[in-house]
Amino acid sequence: MFHPKKFFWMSCVLEVQDVVTPASRFVITVDGLAASGKSSIARQLAQRLGFVHFSSGLLYRAVGWEALERGIDLLDDRVLGAFVESHSWEVGLDSSGRGGVFIDGRAVAVDLSDARISEAASCVATSRRVRQALVQPQRQAYAPHPIVGEGRDLGTVIFPDAQLKLFVEAPEQLRISRRIKQWCEARGEGVIADEAVLQAEIVERDRRDAERAISPTVAAPDAVLVDNGGRALTEVVDYLYTLASSRGLVSGV
Ligand code: DC
Repeated sequence: MFHPKKFFWMSCVLEVQDVVTPASRFVITVDGLAASGKSSIARQLAQRLGFVHFSSGLLYRAVGWEALERGIDLLDDRVLGAFVESHSWEVGLDSSGRGGVFIDGRAVAVDLSDARISEAASCVATSRRVRQALVQPQRQAYAPHPIVGEGRDLGTVIFPDAQLKLFVEAPEQLRISRRIKQWCEARGEGVIADEAVLQAEIVERDRRDAERAISPTVAAPDAVLVDNGGRALTEVVDYLYTLASSRGLVSGV
C-alpha cells in the first residue's frame, strides 16, 4: 500500500513539529459514532475543499495492530502504556500524495480495517496513556496541510480551536445496517454476515466509545450537529461546503 522509501513529508512534519498549531492551519473536525457516515462526509468534504482527509482512527488501529503483533495484553494498562510511549506514531503523506501511518518511521502496510484490529483499536482507545500518546501525532497529522479530520474527540480534545466542528448523528438502526453493508462489501460476494453478531459488536463498541471515562464520543459545545439520518450524501456535503465557505475556509471566497 505504501512505499517505505523516501517520504518528503517526514522532513516537513519534523521541521514544523513545534510550530504548527491547530490555529495556524485550517482544521475541520468531524466526530461521531461508528457508521454514522462521518467518514464519507469527511472524505467528500475534504475533496471539495482541497483539504487532506485525516482518519484519526487509523492511529488507534495502528496501536491495536502493533500491540497484537507483539502479543501485548490490551487490558494491561501499565504494559500497554509503556509500549505506546516507547514508539513514535505519525500520520503523513508519501511522495505520491497518499496518506498513511508510520510507526517509528516505518510505513504500516497492512489492511487496518480488519475486524480483529477494529476490536483491538476500540480496546486500546479506552487507555488514558494511549490517548495521551496520540494527542501530538493527531495535532501534527499532515501538517502543514489543511485537514478535515474525522474521529471521536477531535472537536473536544485534539483540536479545540478548529475553525469548524461537526458532529454527525444517525439513528442506531441505520448505523447497524450501514455497518453490515460495509462488512459484506469488504468481504465480497458469497460471504454471509451473522447480523446478530455484528449488531452486538456495534452496540458494544458504541457503548465503549460513548461511555469511556476519558474522551468519550460527545459533541463539542460549539459543534454543528449534522443529521445524517436520511438525506443524500451530496446534499449533506453541499450544505457543509456552504457552511465552510461562510467561515472563510474556502479559498477564493
Ligand atoms: O474510526 P475508526 O473505526 O477507524 O476508529 C477505530 C477505533 O478507535 C474506534 O473504536 C474508536 C477509536 N477512536 C477513538 O477513540 N478516538 C478517535 N479520535 C478515533 C478513533
